[in-house]
Amino acid sequence: MQRTLSIIKPDGVKKNIIGEIISRFEKNGLRIAAIKKVFLSKEDAKRFYIVHKERPFYDSLTDFMSEGPIIVMVLEGEDAIIKNRDIMGATNPANALPGTIRRDFAQDVERNIVHGSDSPETAKTEIAFFFSELEIL
Ligand code: CMP
Repeated sequence: MQRTLSIIKPDGVKKNIIGEIISRFEKNGLRIAAIKKVFLSKEDAKRFYIVHKERPFYDSLTDFMSEGPIIVMVLEGEDAIIKNRDIMGATNPANALPGTIRRDFAQDVERNIVHGSDSPETAKTEIAFFFSELEIL
């Protein structure tokens, strides 16, 4: 059993496809262990994406992530990290397989609807960024 952090980004929330996205996780055997809607400030977004601080897209990415509310979730299940990444599809929707969330809904490599942790270590840090142990059930 593994846990991973999933985010429905501001573009996904604006498109009103929260239910559609959650349904894809559930249909693929992932369980929602925690969920909430939050609004990141620019500073919050910069802290969350600190690993990308040297990338040319850091400023634009953190503007985007703080432009509206997001849904943060802890997904739980067998191989949850890789399963979530398969369901999301490649970061750039142009490279994402048909039937993935990003291929179906994303506009471009930045406005790509969802985020998912990329390793067990990242999952631990990212989950702790948003949730206390008491909120994960
Ligand atoms: P995510 O999986 O949340 O991880 C980092 C995010 O940075 C990524 O999704 C995209 O939203 C964004 N990103 C990654 N690569 C690029 C890029 N080349 N240009 C703009 N944004 C990017």
